[in-house]
Amino acid sequence: MKSMFGLETFIKINKCLFPVAGYGTRFLPATKAIPKEMLPILTKPLIQYGVEEAMSAGMTTMAMVTSKYKQAIKNHFEPHSDIEASIKDTAKESLLDEVNHASSVCNFTYIEQDKMLGLGHAIYTGKPLIGNEPFAVILPDDLCTSVSESVLKQMTKLYQQHPNCCIVAIEEVPMTEVDKYGVIDGELLEGSSNAYRVNSMVEKPSPENAPTNLAIIGRYILTPEIFDVLEKTPADKNGEIQITDALMILSKQGKVIAYKFDGERFDCGSVKGFVAATNAFAKKLL
Ligand code: UTP
Repeated sequence: MKSMFGLETFIKINKCLFPVAGYGTRFLPATKAIPKEMLPILTKPLIQYGVEEAMSAGMTTMAMVTSKYKQAIKNHFEPHSDIEASIKDTAKESLLDEVNHASSVCNFTYIEQDKMLGLGHAIYTGKPLIGNEPFAVILPDDLCTSVSESVLKQMTKLYQQHPNCCIVAIEEVPMTEVDKYGVIDGELLEGSSNAYRVNSMVEKPSPENAPTNLAIIGRYILTPEIFDVLEKTPADKNGEIQITDALMILSKQGKVIAYKFDGERFDCGSVKGFVAATNAFAKKLL
């Protein structure tokens, strides 16, 4: 964005919200006692990949919307003196370096969502942790990789050009799978091959009713205006408040940009995606 003196001003996004209160029922029985976000791809839990992506985009506050069953997430980002003592001066000493680094440079804040009333409700629950500033959202079960900059970093760059807009990450999915996603309709921005001005969006459409196969995945940059909209967004037929319905209202005002990111997404909330991510990471590392 340009300032009144024509200089480029950079709007820093400091906070990343992690809606992680869901029950993860597709992964039962594994998720009965262990939060879905603590399931590891190789040795690192999904939540840690998410936090590292937010850090790569310059964020320093990790705001977790959690539930009373998810204490393990908080524990993961706190020191564990007994384990640390047991691996000190051994070859394993560095295995906690990344998570300890995240814990020491970031501020972790928590709030509980009492009832599972949908992603929109979870994001609204996070309002006291965010306040009146733009923020990012990561759904850690969507694990994103990229060759160059992280997906969230790419999105924060785009946000600089559209500071009054929310940015949603999208990817093309097979038409037979659109009913699992929020789907957008829009026009490519002038001169762009990967950013759309959204004019409409629909949650989990049937293939016949889907306007496109451009599906929203678990990365967002939201302006604080979203909280006012969410407050008034009615629940859907399942009693859930959908973020897609709230964004639909902003899209009617031209305030939503959809960004086809550079990189790969693994849907680790499904067994198929989780196995694909494990295989891809194993291939790289082992
Ligand atoms: P999902 O539907 O993918 O997660 O919600 P889930 O409900 O935990 O999993 P399944 O479908 O039962 O297997 C997307 C994200 O939104 C969060 C989830 O934790 C997940 O990160 N969420 C969803 C909440 O935090 N609260 C809700 O009420 C609903």
